[in-house]
Amino acid sequence: MASDVKHPTWLPRILRVPPRALRQARAFTRRTLGDTLDRALRVPGWLHPDQAALLCYGAHRCPDGLIVEIGSFKGRSTVFIAKGMKPTNRLHAVDPHLGGTIGSRADVAAAKRLGTDNEFKPDSWSVFNDTLDTWEIKDSVHIIRGYSHDARADWSEPIAMLWVDGDHRYDAVRQDIDDWVPLTCPGALVAFHDTHPNYGSDPGRSVRAAILDSGMLSSGQFETFLELRNLWMMRRVSSMPAARTH
Ligand SMILES: C[S@@+](CC[C@H](N)C(=O)[O-])C[C@H]1O[C@@H](n2cnc3c(N)ncnc32)[C@H](O)[C@@H]1O
Repeated sequence: MASDVKHPTWLPRILRVPPRALRQARAFTRRTLGDTLDRALRVPGWLHPDQAALLCYGAHRCPDGLIVEIGSFKGRSTVFIAKGMKPTNRLHAVDPHLGGTIGSRADVAAAKRLGTDNEFKPDSWSVFNDTLDTWEIKDSVHIIRGYSHDARADWSEPIAMLWVDGDHRYDAVRQDIDDWVPLTCPGALVAFHDTHPNYGSDPGRSVRAAILDSGMLSSGQFETFLELRNLWMMRRVSSMPAARTH
């Protein structure tokens, strides 16, 4: 897949994708997006083209029901998920769109305190909306403009696929897992971005550490479905525990 979008090349290759699954994901994505694929890969973002294909294919293969995206930015992953999913799925895209690559509450507060724009600026809201218009996916994407923890307060439905690419700090990832993972249904896919062991300055506080410390995998309720560089996708193999209600 050709792309002029930059993605990190400094990460050693982690490949736990059965070659057949990767071939199927690439073929499905090519078929689904046709000659618009290169244009989709130019939506600004950090997703590697093969990871975009895995999300597109994952959205097609997950159970019927609701898909939740935490962290949409300008809509790169949103497009691939929305284009891949079945008519029996609906995507809920959660992001405050306050600017920055991370845009966490702490980033925004620090920027305000310093009287500067968020270091990474600009706010992603208008571009995100343009992306949904351009790709004609406004009808299949429900936008939740806010932080994931706040959105969880109004949510009780089971989730067929969860894509976590929001605030990457350890405590925030733990919070997203605590909030959202218990709602995933049997067979649901749960994917995280930036999970490479070398991502971030402190391996003990990385996205990967947060996932491992959460006990998702050691509980036996999830198994690794596939892992490609810094995208880690798991599948719920056992039934859903009683979901927490707010
Ligand atoms: C790395 S970007 C997402 C990239 C996007 N998935 C893509 O494919 O281009 C991270 C996004 O997470 C959002 N974000 C930060 N904290 C969040 C939170 N607590 N809940 C939801 N989104 C959050 C930021 O506003 C930012 O747009």
